[in-house]
Amino acid sequence: MKPSTKMVRRPLLPLTDVDPLTTPIFETTSYVFDSAAQVREYNEGRSAKYLYTRYGNPTITAVEGKLAAAEGAESALLLSSGQAATSTALLALLQSGDEIVCSAAIYGGTLHLLGDLLTRLGLAARFVGIDELRDPERVLSDRTRVLWFESPINPTLRCVDIKAVADACRARGVVSVLDSTFASPVNQQPLSLGVDVVMHSATKYLNGHSDVTAGVLAGGSSRLAPMEKVRRSLGTILDPQAAYALGRGLKTLVVRVERQNASAGALAIWLRQDPRVHAVFYPGLADHPDHDIARRQMRGFGGMVCIDVGDYARAAAFFDRLKVFQRAASLGGVESLCSLPVLTSQWGHSDEELRAAGVTHGMARLSIGLEDVEDLIADLDQALG
Ligand SMILES: Cc1ncc(COP(=O)(O)O)c(C=O)c1O
Repeated sequence: MKPSTKMVRRPLLPLTDVDPLTTPIFETTSYVFDSAAQVREYNEGRSAKYLYTRYGNPTITAVEGKLAAAEGAESALLLSSGQAATSTALLALLQSGDEIVCSAAIYGGTLHLLGDLLTRLGLAARFVGIDELRDPERVLSDRTRVLWFESPINPTLRCVDIKAVADACRARGVVSVLDSTFASPVNQQPLSLGVDVVMHSATKYLNGHSDVTAGVLAGGSSRLAPMEKVRRSLGTILDPQAAYALGRGLKTLVVRVERQNASAGALAIWLRQDPRVHAVFYPGLADHPDHDIARRQMRGFGGMVCIDVGDYARAAAFFDRLKVFQRAASLGGVESLCSLPVLTSQWGHSDEELRAAGVTHGMARLSIGLEDVEDLIADLDQALG
């Protein structure tokens, strides 16, 4: 062989003798076959080989295995963002003319995807208030194929009775999908409550270091198989580098979330007794409207706390004075963050949409990280003025 040929040939690696402790990153778009017979076996689903990374990759498979284990699911799929997970799932589940019922109190991106984009493809999206979800049989119609909901809900941390919704859907042959991003699998196991598919923005707690954008779908293998096909067509699979980073983040998921639960609980109690704070929204507080539901279905109450300081001017002044909490969107990372819902997740919403989501102009949403809780309390104290 000439030098230029040698440079591009893959080296033969003694892979059978190599047993790395951590998951290697398979940075390859394609996989090599020995024969036409091998390619045929792959195409007929009779081999464990890989063909092309948009269809699958060993690094991604390894992390999907961990995520399935975390959710108690048969299978999991990794996608390039939470939104990629949502759109891939919905395009697999719905056909033109079908109806999707969606909680009105839902992540803004989901609201826009359903209300603006998917309705252009002939899907009917019907949004229902959280109180209507207390009687889930009544929100389903003969045309409903999917019910999409979230619990705890951003930013009010209202909780929906997951088992009641899942049972009603199952009785009517409707597929239930829960966005469980705010809880993480440490605090909530929706599949064990009867939900068909769990979706996460893995950008948040699952990765936990604010440096990866990713999404997850978890559930039964036959339920996920059509979603895997749509993922191939749309090209919404995660990149292997990002999958590696997510897999590394998952190693500390349980200790991170347990610490975040404890710190958020302590902060909520501290905020509750402060007269400068008009309202504290945290499912672990006994006066939270869904405390009983949260106690039944959550192992921990999570690392998100929302406060209402009265009006927008006070919320903005509080926000601007923070020193330890950083002014940034997103959540679930090791750094404590603050955002004002009317400027981020609910930006551009009409007053009616804000009311449906339970969001006010005086709200500040806190994502509790891993800093010392005393520093966090001192920061809130000075920022409240
Ligand atoms: C509850 C929830 N679901 C879905 C998403 C979308 O996830 P991503 O930003 O990874 O696409 C977000 C993002 O903030 C979210 O908070």
